[in-house]
Amino acid sequence: MKNLVEFAIPDDKIICDLYMDQVGLSAVAVADEFDLFRIIGSEPQDAATLAAKINSDKRAVEVLLNALVTQGGLANDDGKYSLTTVGDAFFKRGSPLCRIFQLYSNKESWAYKRISNMMKNGPDPVAFGKGSYTSMWETGTLTQEAADRFTAMMNTNIGAVAIAVAKSGIFADFTSVVDVGGASGIFLAAMRQLHPEMKLTLFELPQVCESAKGILKHYVDPTSIEYFPASFFEQQWPANGQAYFLSNVLHDWPRAKGVEILKNIRQALPSNGAVFINEALLNEDRMSPKYTVLFDLMMHLNHASQQYTEVELFEILHEAGFKNPRRVFEFGYYSTIRADV
Ligand SMILES: C[S@@+](CC[C@H](N)C(=O)[O-])C[C@H]1O[C@@H](n2cnc3c(N)ncnc32)[C@H](O)[C@@H]1O
Repeated sequence: MKNLVEFAIPDDKIICDLYMDQVGLSAVAVADEFDLFRIIGSEPQDAATLAAKINSDKRAVEVLLNALVTQGGLANDDGKYSLTTVGDAFFKRGSPLCRIFQLYSNKESWAYKRISNMMKNGPDPVAFGKGSYTSMWETGTLTQEAADRFTAMMNTNIGAVAIAVAKSGIFADFTSVVDVGGASGIFLAAMRQLHPEMKLTLFELPQVCESAKGILKHYVDPTSIEYFPASFFEQQWPANGQAYFLSNVLHDWPRAKGVEILKNIRQALPSNGAVFINEALLNEDRMSPKYTVLFDLMMHLNHASQQYTEVELFEILHEAGFKNPRRVFEFGYYSTIRADV
């Protein structure tokens, strides 16, 4: 079995940035398709005004414009977007220095096609065959094949962060941890290698629990983890869970659904329990860091959802009845927030 915890984990920001490069380049090319650089011209405008001018949806335009801010083509001042000198010189058609054509090869990419589609028709949900993951997750109609595909992908994406969180020691106050929407359970595998006695439970949809067992066997005895195959929109919770961990879960859902999930968790926790939220956080202006702004675009595209700022997450936790939210760990672009019952 492979050891997950006896090596140093390098910062993975460079890999995150590499993955998102295709999204950033495609965002610029899509903005050109909609002529946004010329429409903005010399007049700063807000997202609603620009959305009306190009007959698109305000939130779609906003995530695209924020992506352009991170690519250096736009600035945002008090909610109004204007061209930077770089955007004016190199992205705006008609400029003698325009270099937008250099980005045209991106038009063949999945990122370009999906972002362009989002601007015309709204979110382009990430799907397997004809079913979007959002609707399969909500209605419990996930197929085993769809579960296997997504779970393997999440295992790769979050592995370094999950292991770093497990090694951080932030669960030292607890003897049992439930990983809600934990996908492959890679976080629990690292926890098991570190804490042989701890009660560790994977709370996932039934099909994902099956996918997870096939991955976990490479790291731990899969039977050393407990499985709770259920939906977090229902009122069934594992007994004796003292700490609940949610990584990349709240960002999949509109805010109201996130509050619903957290309220359910709060009801299930004992009075000395705590919830830990692990997400890539936006800075408070929602315009940085670049990776998370592009991730915010991706989440709108994939699930009509969003990345959060720390203040927004604290508000959601308070609304769900949790106390004393605070940031307890950071790795790469991710932060872990703890809040108590
Ligand atoms: C974006 S993934 C996050 C996986 C992992 N926690 C991570 O940090 O990468 C969201 C997970 O939530 C799970 N999920 C979605 N809807 C669910 C539901 N109704 N009940 C339980 N889990 C659900 C999915 O199966 C998926 O594995």
